[in-house]
Formats: sequence, C-alpha cells, structure tokens
Amino acid sequence: MYTLIVFGNASQSIIAQIAISQEELLTDLLTLLQKYHIPIASSCMGEGICKKCILNGGQLACKTNIKDLISSAEGHDLSIKITLDYL
Ligand code: FES
Repeated sequence: MYTLIVFGNASQSIIAQIAISQEELLTDLLTLLQKYHIPIASSCMGEGICKKCILNGGQLACKTNIKDLISSAEGHDLSIKITLDYL
C-alpha cells in the first residue's frame, strides 16, 4: 500500500497523508484530492483547460494518475509526495 503525502509550500507543512487503495491507484489526482477534501482549484472540471489544478510546480492534477507517480518514487519507498504551492 502506498501513502500519498500532500505537502503545502505556503505553510511548509504536511497537509495530509492518505493511504491509497489499489482501486485509487488508477484515479487522477484531482479526483483523489477532492475525495479527501484537500483544497484543489479547478474550473474546467478536469478537462485540462483551466490550468488551475497545478501541483509539483507544473503538473496538472487532473491529467496525472496516482500510478504515474509511483514509477518516479524512489527505491522501495512506498510514499508519494505531492506539493501544492498555495497550501
Ligand atoms: S482542472 Fe482544469 S486543468 Fe486541471
């Protein structure tokens, strides 16, 4: 099981730690963050147009699946960290 760590740049703190289920691995980050009530901007409802759901300094949450981040996780570390500038 993976843990998604949501880090806020503005507060320089961990906002949330979410245990990700196998089912959620196929979910995009926008949907997942909304599910867990983490504030994430969106005015195009995930169409990839508004560019308001940016995280990690440039990735679109609505176009990034959790499983896409796993390949970039290092070694056997089962935690995935994302950064939101405004939190
Ligand atoms: S929600 Fe609009 S670009 Fe992601």
